Amino acid sequence: MCGIVGYIGRREVLPVLVRGLEGLEYRGYDSSGLACFDPEHSRIVAVKEKGKLDQLKARLEGFHHNGCIGIGHTRWATHGAPTRDNAHPHLDASEQFAIVHNGIIENYERLKTDLLRAGTHFKSETDTEVFVHTWGRLARKIRDVREAFRQTVLKCHGRFAFVGMSLKTPDRIFVFRRSNPIVIGAGSGEYFVASDVTALLPYTREVIYLEDDEMAEVLRSEVKFYNVKTGKRMQKKSIRIDWSSEQAQKGGWPHFMIKEIHEQPDVLETALAKRIQKGRIVWDTLSKKAEARLKKIRKIFAVSCGTAFHAGLAGKYMLEEYAKIPVETSVSSEFRYSDPILEKEDMVLLVSQSGETADTLAALHEAKERGAFSLALVNVVGSTLAREADAVIYTHAGPEIGVASTKAYTAQLIHLALFSIYLGKLRGKISNQNLKTLLGHAKKLPAHIRQFLVKGKAKVEECADALSDKPNLIYLGRGYNYPTALEGALKFKEITYKHAHGYAAGEMKHGPIALVDKNLPVVSIAPASKTYEKMMSNIEEVKARDGIIVSIGTRGDEKLRLKSKYFLEIPSVPEIFSCILTVIPLQLLAYQAAVLNGREVDQPRNLAKSVTVE
Ligand code: M6R
Repeated sequence: MCGIVGYIGRREVLPVLVRGLEGLEYRGYDSSGLACFDPEHSRIVAVKEKGKLDQLKARLEGFHHNGCIGIGHTRWATHGAPTRDNAHPHLDASEQFAIVHNGIIENYERLKTDLLRAGTHFKSETDTEVFVHTWGRLARKIRDVREAFRQTVLKCHGRFAFVGMSLKTPDRIFVFRRSNPIVIGAGSGEYFVASDVTALLPYTREVIYLEDDEMAEVLRSEVKFYNVKTGKRMQKKSIRIDWSSEQAQKGGWPHFMIKEIHEQPDVLETALAKRIQKGRIVWDTLSKKAEARLKKIRKIFAVSCGTAFHAGLAGKYMLEEYAKIPVETSVSSEFRYSDPILEKEDMVLLVSQSGETADTLAALHEAKERGAFSLALVNVVGSTLAREADAVIYTHAGPEIGVASTKAYTAQLIHLALFSIYLGKLRGKISNQNLKTLLGHAKKLPAHIRQFLVKGKAKVEECADALSDKPNLIYLGRGYNYPTALEGALKFKEITYKHAHGYAAGEMKHGPIALVDKNLPVVSIAPASKTYEKMMSNIEEVKARDGIIVSIGTRGDEKLRLKSKYFLEIPSVPEIFSCILTVIPLQLLAYQAAVLNGREVDQPRNLAKSVTVE
């Protein structure tokens, strides 16, 4: 939540900051602001505005500035309403220190009380402001801006990232991170700072990730790294990111979400080409030691949030069927407080697009403390989860900018399917012939999705037209497609703001059936499967009560077509892969309904792409 940028170099700073904020707006979009050194008048100039970044850009029109150092912020409010006063950057009373912040200062009330007693005047309701006042006061007292920054960080409790600048040291910016991502991009005679690597892509792919409790002093020509606890200098290496700037742009599509939906065939193709080689499933990031550990895993805990949780749930069905390992699933925020019974032979599988979700990171720490083996399935290369887990598998879906996750989900599903088959083979549960057949089917998935995106689109649009004004929807599925029901409903509600609820179809008769009447659309995910007949019975139960049946089924299923008001068909594939196809119509349905309702598809209200608060 919240996006932070910083720049130091020779370019005019304003366009660099604005472009950086554009790349991060998906992280928070209720207000924004920036601050830069004004070399002519030797002062810090700050401009802030409530609302979307466009509001800030409008305020900046006609505003000229030739400074080359600055910081910026796009906010997702935690403390204080999204007003101009509460927008970052925050300046101290002398206007010589400025700060942008992501995360929460948990002891801010205590620090604020002390500052108020000392006569400090506060201009905002944020927790952030205590930082800048404390920093300014300390710097004046000890006459060392960097050391004062470090000591201020140590006074603050919680998880956060800060980027600050001071008129007293106008040739550098200061950066700190604890549990909230910060990455520094290296250019030639210039450095960029951002909460997320996507904001750096227009300038550089050479990046250095800060780890927890690391601080950086960024000058034009070098970056000095410190351990914030000891104050000692340390060395860090840069890594090269293989994403391109174009991947993080809309490229002619009206929204990132629809672009990302259409990228799924390519994402799957890349995954399959990378993971299937000479008839074998291979993992570039798993060491021999990790493989040996995987061979002996007793139980798996799949832990994640939101869409990634749904992928983990689908993973449970895959792993249990093909690897024959028992799997427990949990949302991260529950797992960490549930006192999980974890043994050394257990594995915690953490699924995450961003690799920065606070609850999932906390779950990882819990797993590590209890000695379990941790495997992260992550999209963002070099993210915290990827770095801290015992082993990592990257989903390589490319940058996902739309807040509603789409291509990251199908990339997680294909990786989970391949991983389950791989584990099954490793543990002697799958024959060579079975492996060959499954991989043959997997390779056809990209073409199936491509075909649906062309041929199935009109039908989805027709269906969205009919459903877009319905206030409530139910999604039903069983087995591999129970997670699809949950994911379809989540997609629909998060971008249309309509109530949609996903259920295991067998649960309908235990309560939700009371909702069924002629106005309730019931989206039933019923491709050919072990539970097909049971799904048919559930659909009959809805039909008997006049519910509007929208179904996703296997091509040629006339029985289902006849029962449905809208029938969206996918090709026949083994059950393990069916969830990769059935979710595509549901993504499109949610997208189309959101557009018809005039919603902000890529930046739905109250949400943020990367949830870095607990
Ligand atoms: O980055 P992560 O995969 O860990 O994020 C988890 C959830 O916050 C995320 O999937 C969220 O539910 C999306 N908005 C769903 O579209």
